[in-house]
Amino acid sequence: MSDSLTIIDNRTGKKYEVPISYGTYNTYGASIPASALRSIKSSDDDFGMMTYDPGYTNTAHCKSAITFVDGEKGILKYRGYSIEDLATRGNFLEVAYLILHGDLPNRSQLDEWEHEITHHTLIHESIKKFIEGFHYDAHPMIMLISTIAGLSSFYPMAGDTADQVRRTRQIHRLIAKLPTISAFAYRYRVGLRYSYPDNDLSYTGNFLKMLFKMTRSYTPDPILEKVLDVLFILHADHEQNCSTSVMRGVGSSLPDPYVSVAAAAAALYGPLHGGANERVVRMLREIGDKKNVPAYIKRVKAGEFRLMGFGHRVYKNYDPRAKILRGLFEQVFEATGRSPLLDVAVDLERIALEDDYFVERKLYPNVDFYSGIIYQAMGFPMDMFPVLFAIPRTVGWLAQWAELLEDPDLRIARPRQIYTGENERTYIPVESRE
Ligand code: CMC
Repeated sequence: MSDSLTIIDNRTGKKYEVPISYGTYNTYGASIPASALRSIKSSDDDFGMMTYDPGYTNTAHCKSAITFVDGEKGILKYRGYSIEDLATRGNFLEVAYLILHGDLPNRSQLDEWEHEITHHTLIHESIKKFIEGFHYDAHPMIMLISTIAGLSSFYPMAGDTADQVRRTRQIHRLIAKLPTISAFAYRYRVGLRYSYPDNDLSYTGNFLKMLFKMTRSYTPDPILEKVLDVLFILHADHEQNCSTSVMRGVGSSLPDPYVSVAAAAAALYGPLHGGANERVVRMLREIGDKKNVPAYIKRVKAGEFRLMGFGHRVYKNYDPRAKILRGLFEQVFEATGRSPLLDVAVDLERIALEDDYFVERKLYPNVDFYSGIIYQAMGFPMDMFPVLFAIPRTVGWLAQWAELLEDPDLRIARPRQIYTGENERTYIPVESRE
């Protein structure tokens, strides 16, 4: 058997042989170079064959060694470690190190890494003025996106993306400062004095304190600190999703990582991506009671709207992250009290999973279906949910960006189009137009 594909162009009768290459798994990731199709022409002045793939449903735009997803089987791995193993035994900062560096850190590497991240948590006092320029009820995700882009102006050397030491410095800054900016945006909105970073706490403990500290003696609830840590692990990377491909697309023109992360965060904000968790809670509130679930499902099936938190481009099975989140409910509700939305969510899931519409289309709960319920029980307002997604995903964006910059195949992202407009027209002065 030869690892190639033979293509016959029925327009000309010509045969073409195109090489097949593989990734780690032969059964998952066989591909042909799209450029090989360009030699398939119907005549000499023909541009050559392209593929048409709106939404990149079947186009690999990079090679990556970071995250593996098998959507049919519901498998997610970071650097070869299963998400279940990492979520139950690891912590967010060591998983972040793993995603960025390729291996889990040893003790001294972890200490140094934690030190680096912890000591970049402060933001320049002027950055607070960006946040304060917004109206009090601005969406915190908008404040975050704009402020991340604004950070670029504080670190002019960040544009030197060829310098690995400088690159690493920006990676540390972004991972360290995002919780501070997010917490400040939250406190500005609710009219509370900022709570500055406490470097003696864990990444999530410090974040909770910056958000919720009301008294001098505030200490984060250890259960909620741990749960948030697990949520951050689950959201840290997810290979070539919408925001990550934006990160790579913007990064390919070689700007500094602040503007690329701002662009990726903007992509995440959309309701079909990281904004879905907020929509799920709004949906569950609108349904209000278990008895209203069947009527709601009927409207979804009639095409009135989508069931938020359901379906995924890649997962055609239960999203493994959603499964882990279901397992966290007991701990969370022990600390916070049971969420009344849970009963509606569980019933919605049960009814949807038995319904032919969802079964035939392989629509299962995704990570956003349950994360919103947990965030809400923990006391986060709904518009903070996408921010809680953006903080850990910054690790994935930066790892993918660093991988891109080291990739010998790096070229500026510049897809093709199939032109369907007018052919040839001649300008007519406005006085003569009908
Ligand atoms: N509710 C009802 N029907 C749906 C849903 C849904 N949530 N998702 C997909 N479908 C239907 C869709 O109408 C289509 O049906 P038909 O073949 O009859 O036209 C079929 O399933 C395939 O849908 P698609 O739009 O081609 O699927 P896609 O891969 O382009 O979209 C998705 C993936 C996540 C955007 C979509 O499932 C969706 O809109 N889900 C709701 C939003 C959501 O929960 N997003 C979070 C995604 S997970 C976290 C993340 O990565 O950001």
